[in-house]
Amino acid sequence: AQSIDLAVVAGDGIGTEVVEQGLAVLDAALAGTGVKVTTTDYDLGARRYHATGETLTDADLAALRGHDAILLGAVGDPSVPSGVLERGLLLRLRFALDHYVNLRPARLFPGVRSPLADPGEVDFVVVREGTEGPYVGNGGSVRTGTPHEIATEVSVNTAYGVERVVRYAFAKAAARPRKHLTLVHKHNVLVHAGHLWRRTVEAVNAEFPDVTTDYLHVDAATIFLTTDPSRFDVIVTDNLFGDILTDQAAAITGGIGLAASGNVNPDRTAPSMFEPVHGSAPDIAGQGKADPTATVLSVALLLDHLGHTDAARRVEAAVEADLAERSTGPARVRSTAEIGRELAARLH
Ligand code: NAD
Ligand code: IPM
Ligand code: MN
Repeated sequence: AQSIDLAVVAGDGIGTEVVEQGLAVLDAALAGTGVKVTTTDYDLGARRYHATGETLTDADLAALRGHDAILLGAVGDPSVPSGVLERGLLLRLRFALDHYVNLRPARLFPGVRSPLADPGEVDFVVVREGTEGPYVGNGGSVRTGTPHEIATEVSVNTAYGVERVVRYAFAKAAARPRKHLTLVHKHNVLVHAGHLWRRTVEAVNAEFPDVTTDYLHVDAATIFLTTDPSRFDVIVTDNLFGDILTDQAAAITGGIGLAASGNVNPDRTAPSMFEPVHGSAPDIAGQGKADPTATVLSVALLLDHLGHTDAARRVEAAVEADLAERSTGPARVRSTAEIGRELAARLH
């Protein structure tokens, strides 16, 4: 399409800071291409919650559905009880818009220093299930606050939900040079869900005979992410394991300030939503210290999703050049806005 109708949910904390830069880079990437971007800001997050008690209304959701895509900053604030915005806003969006693929690439860009002494070539992608698992909110607490309290969070895994994300992961692996898929779960303990995932991978593998597969229990996966991350190509895993592994993946590839993600609805029955992996970072919010690169790389994923692949590659190239210069150029501490400005300048 020659236009992008974008919804912007900047959200809380550093969300507003990084999204401003992401949008500036998006504008720069599309300048002169004839592709016109229109943005609509949605007032969602802590401010709105305190003012109205609302997290995400049906009317908000209906309006959001009308856009081509959503760019989100971060959600969550210390002034709001933990879980209210995370569940009521962010997870509600992922569930309602059927973002069943949470795509989280992990790549160690040239020049970026990993905390690992000898990381090798790290370039994998985590396909994290986005609409099931312990995130569905199926649980409860009885005798709350007493010594006899019982709290449960039941992980929901449906054959339908597992199969569709596993099929997506196989297709992703088939399109990559190494064509390798690793299932991460914990079927030695979580025997019901774990064996559903294992059987599903075995069955769908028949449709993708070129793709090799292996399996790791999630605890062992954390070992190999640290000791041998270059072994991974595509990882498919459930919602909670994927959440945890992708913060670790970010840490080994230069930090959470670089980690991008897409909440993708591959069937395109609703807009997909792109956001950095990180949160609202209350510890640095309002100080101009947040690295907007994760959001900028999420903008590249957004451009890819909407078919603007040239612009996506140019955004990535700008980030690569900026990251390379961080390692070779003189040491500089740059603000959020300075990094954004310099990335945008590379695109003009
Ligand atoms: P966090 O990702 O916000 O912060 C973890 C650490 O990483 C902090 O030290 C922070 O300063 C640092 N950090 C994060 N982003 C950075 C950036 N761009 N540049 C430099 N440093 C960065 O995780 P948290 O502290 O566990 O959570 C804070 C709040 O954010 C909570 O309310 C949580 O629920 C929420 N959260 C939201 C999302 C989301 O909106 N997708 C994701 C994770 C956490
Ligand atoms: C993330 C976050 C969210 C998640 C929270 C804030 C609901 O940690 O996007 O990784 O667990 O998915
Ligand atoms: Mn997370």
